[in-house]
Amino acid sequence: MAVGVFDSGLGGLTVLDALQQRLPQVPFVYYGDNAHTPYGVRDADDIFALTCAGVERLWAEGCDLVIIACNTASAVALKRMQETWLPPGKRALGVFVPLIEALTERQWGDNSPPREVAVKHVALFATPATVSSRAFQRELAYRAIGVDVEAQPCGGVVDAIEQGDEILAEALVRSHVDALKRRMPHPEAAILGCTHYPLVQKTFQDALGPQVKVFSQANLVAESLADYLTRRPEMLGTGTRSVNLTTGNPAQVSARATQFLRKGVKFEAA
Ligand code: DGL
Repeated sequence: MAVGVFDSGLGGLTVLDALQQRLPQVPFVYYGDNAHTPYGVRDADDIFALTCAGVERLWAEGCDLVIIACNTASAVALKRMQETWLPPGKRALGVFVPLIEALTERQWGDNSPPREVAVKHVALFATPATVSSRAFQRELAYRAIGVDVEAQPCGGVVDAIEQGDEILAEALVRSHVDALKRRMPHPEAAILGCTHYPLVQKTFQDALGPQVKVFSQANLVAESLADYLTRRPEMLGTGTRSVNLTTGNPAQVSARATQFLRKGVKFEAA
């Protein structure tokens, strides 16, 4: 009864952590494609091929349902996977929609027409590939009207986190927040549209100021998966073990994961 969790590297661990707390009885298999991170500067075909390879590896662990805990892959590859690649009986769910449902004050899966919502000025921080896909704006437009979104491509942040360079990651976050504030001085809400960014969430909140509500995905995705599994319990696959897999160097990836999550995390070779 295992569920797969996919990311380009360490970021999806923020989602995994929340999933394990919300659904302690479910074994989760994590796949970090640390050998090919960052995805945010790759082209769409490349991201599609790498994401499919990771999802196939998770099928081999008995995971019929895979959470694509990577906004870049969710934005650039997920729709194509669902329409052209996933065989019957397999599902892949992204991390965008639960976040947008929370921002637009909707229940999970409420597909009623777009309407006015409380927030009017939203800052979006994401990788260059996610920002240029405009997937966030597209999903938001299905649900809300009159929301002004200013997007900041946060080049370098994922790379700095994957290299274990917290000081550089934090300096880059501050400069990206400054750049965004020059274009939108008073956002009411900020979306951390990359699962790596909760690892430096405090820096985002400090740079934005306490009046800005920062939305990140982990708990929202966990709640929506719990809801999904009550409706589709048959999607719990046949896998029974919980394990963290990486395409990178397991010792190095374990050390970086432990550093950023501030608790012991162990990886093995994918
Ligand atoms: N955690 C991935 C995301 O949510 C990072 C993508 C990357 O590797 O650049 O977008």
